[in-house]
Amino acid sequence: FESSTDGELSDSEHEDETPSKKVKLETETIEEQCETLDIVETHDDICDKQSTVEQSKREANIEPRKTNGVLFKPKVEKKPALYVDVIRDPQIQTARLKLPILAEEQQIMEVINSNSIIIVSGETGSGKTTQIPQFLYEGGYALKKQIAVTEPRRIAAISMSQRVAEEMNLSGREVSFLVRFQGNVTDDTKIKFMTDGVLLKEVQSDFLLSNYSVVILDEAHERSLYTDILVGLLSRIVKLREKKNDPLKLIVMSATLRLEDFTTNRRLFKVPPPVIKVDTRQFPVTIHFNRRTEEDYLKEAFRKTVKIHSTLPDGVYCCFDRVALKKTVEVENDALKDLGDNRKKGKRSKKVVLPEINLNDYSLPGDAEHNSDYEGSDSELEDPIGTESVVHGQPLWVLPLYSLLSVQKQNRIFQQVPSGCRLCVVSTNVAETSLTIPGIKYVVDSGKTKTKLYDKVTGVSSYAICWTSKASADQRAGRAGRMGPGHCYRLYSSAVFNDTFVDFGEPEIRRAPADDLYLRMRNMNIEKIINFPFPTAPDLLQLKTAETRLKILGVLDQNGKVTGLGRAVSKFPVLPRFGKMLALSHQHEILPYTICLVAALSIPEVLMEVSISAKTDSSDKWAATRLRWAGSGNSYLLGDNMVLLKAVGAAEFAHSEGKLEQFCAENGIRSKAVSEIRKLRLQLSNEISVNVADTDVVVDPKMAPPNDLQAKLLRQILLAGLGDQVAKKMSVDEVPAGENKAKFKYAYHANNMEDLVFLHRGSVLKRSLPEFVIYQELYETNKIYMRGVTAIEPEWLPIYVPTLCNLGAPLADPPPCFTGGKVMCTIVGTFGSQAWPLPPIKMEYP
Ligand code: CDP
Ligand code: MG
Repeated sequence: FESSTDGELSDSEHEDETPSKKVKLETETIEEQCETLDIVETHDDICDKQSTVEQSKREANIEPRKTNGVLFKPKVEKKPALYVDVIRDPQIQTARLKLPILAEEQQIMEVINSNSIIIVSGETGSGKTTQIPQFLYEGGYALKKQIAVTEPRRIAAISMSQRVAEEMNLSGREVSFLVRFQGNVTDDTKIKFMTDGVLLKEVQSDFLLSNYSVVILDEAHERSLYTDILVGLLSRIVKLREKKNDPLKLIVMSATLRLEDFTTNRRLFKVPPPVIKVDTRQFPVTIHFNRRTEEDYLKEAFRKTVKIHSTLPDGVYCCFDRVALKKTVEVENDALKDLGDNRKKGKRSKKVVLPEINLNDYSLPGDAEHNSDYEGSDSELEDPIGTESVVHGQPLWVLPLYSLLSVQKQNRIFQQVPSGCRLCVVSTNVAETSLTIPGIKYVVDSGKTKTKLYDKVTGVSSYAICWTSKASADQRAGRAGRMGPGHCYRLYSSAVFNDTFVDFGEPEIRRAPADDLYLRMRNMNIEKIINFPFPTAPDLLQLKTAETRLKILGVLDQNGKVTGLGRAVSKFPVLPRFGKMLALSHQHEILPYTICLVAALSIPEVLMEVSISAKTDSSDKWAATRLRWAGSGNSYLLGDNMVLLKAVGAAEFAHSEGKLEQFCAENGIRSKAVSEIRKLRLQLSNEISVNVADTDVVVDPKMAPPNDLQAKLLRQILLAGLGDQVAKKMSVDEVPAGENKAKFKYAYHANNMEDLVFLHRGSVLKRSLPEFVIYQELYETNKIYMRGVTAIEPEWLPIYVPTLCNLGAPLADPPPCFTGGKVMCTIVGTFGSQAWPLPPIKMEYP
């Protein structure tokens, strides 16, 4: 990429300039900054409010710190910054003062005042997220404009805004949040926490981000797609704002990050920004590697936890991947049975408390993918509710923690543990950096993480349980040293760690499909996406595939320019293919259905595939329910997505009668997904009402199932959005000689790949086996399966996916007197690269 020409937004580079440790400072003085921030005249007012104690503390502390990670020495000695007083609750203030970052406020503010781009790095829990926005507020940065803080996760944006408001004794009116579905921003908002996706959307409508004086990109080490894009954009926006004499500060914050990604990336920052290293009171954590790496790490994790629980004092914390979370219950039950037997043998023991464990908690996203043959394995799992089992020591209070869990349940980790109990949190990597669980002393680390892998060419996604990275493993271990010296038990050997673990995980930009990224960038008039200053460039092949797909969808024209459809599509906060479906539905008065469908397709795992209960065997029951919903035989609904639509509608009826939870539990629907879909429907409806002229979509969550005609239209609309993902039934004649025909009963050819794809046993189409289908997604376990399958008619293809059809000449010559009037002819053609014959189409003479 280095040799290619610059994109529109990138600056010229000086390749031969070697990065120097001495950081060049900008010449701006604080006075100049005040002028440009337009706050000079208010100086006196502010001084009145100043706390003199704080003031003198600042003055006494003015000498810049020389060492300890601040790679910076201010050139100009400055007067204290403009100061806005915050009257804090004394108790909160005492707690704050325990954070080492507080002692460094002066130095940190000096670096921020005299640089436009700053990197802040420090361990999780050191106070970056909660304290730095407060420093900025006190330093006068919120006097005229807002302070923006982005988080990759919604849960962090909400809970951090609440925490900061509480610490500052302010309300949600002043310290607010804005995430995809909700927010409490007002005209008085000073500090605004938001998801990175929300800020990216704001850049699209106001490229200079003129409402903000500072943008903090938090958790940059996670390298989420949107944060990565924002880093690149902001590196340029800061320059533009400088030129306009309206400076904007960019603060990139991260835990233990690969600083070099930001500091040595000179496409991104020509001059490496100063790095502020925040100290933390981190106690030593003793790492215990297992001598052997057990194959069954779940069992091993449970064994280890029980051992800690029965022999060592204080809290426990386990960091597993999310499948492990569910399986833990299985292991637990086995192991607990053993312990129960011990009790019979007269051994002393006490209860394990498994509080409010809800089956839904354990039927986690992506589970189905792990059970290639999902009828068997999971139904053997025991129902943990009411398990009364026995472990030596105090009762153990076991709480699950993962991001799809409701906020309410997530908050239980901050609440008081029932007296006499010990807390054990079984968590996904949410607890690695985003949330700090109080009081952890022991970490049990499986070393595993569940990753969604994505094939750049075929678009096949699969979940795999992989070893995590060295950086993540160290993060997990670090959680044990917050309160005092701790211990981390790694369920793998040091040899595995040293030889198998990669240093860092791969950033999302290299893992996710690039469609959305591509269209967003094009819409911001960024022509050469490959030259954009990403912290890590996306894969070239990935971009190429995205471009092809967007052209098939008609979102880009053949020259790669955004079409009218493309502009309409990008107004919707969903994937381009779904945006297209919305744009088309508008013409057919089925918009409310499509909105519901698109919302449902945008939320992961609405319908649960797997039950862990052997007693009720719910997974079969749910499969049966779905078949019933789909109708019998060649039903009118014809597809999994239609069933999804029906399920959401039905759940809303149940909701209106106050029976949502019960209905969802009985029918295998994730109730949290239903409320997220409701919010997304509302949001989409509002956006359509605003963006599309003459449309006022009213949402009634309760929606009757579509009738025959509507279902047919919806299938056509789905085809318009998923036209690149067509599959054709494999015929019996194609089964290779000597092979078992039954093995290919559910086999299909996908138009864009060589391998066969299969209809999953959970699909409602497995009875009718239509000739042509479209699918929402492919995923791979032992075979490649289609997910979200809908039946289509081949004669629809030339209408909805013309870009992939190859139509031949009319079958007969035009009649001799042909004058271009309405004379019909028959045309035969093929579809896709594999040239599947299409049925003859009646058309007017071209
Ligand atoms: O962002 P960073 O990981 O550096 O730390 P933070 O999220 O600002 O948290 C600083 C400290 O505040 C942590 O040590 C937490 O213990 C505490 N905190 C808390 O007690 N309750 C919250 N809701 C958030 C933070
Ligand atoms: Mg943080």
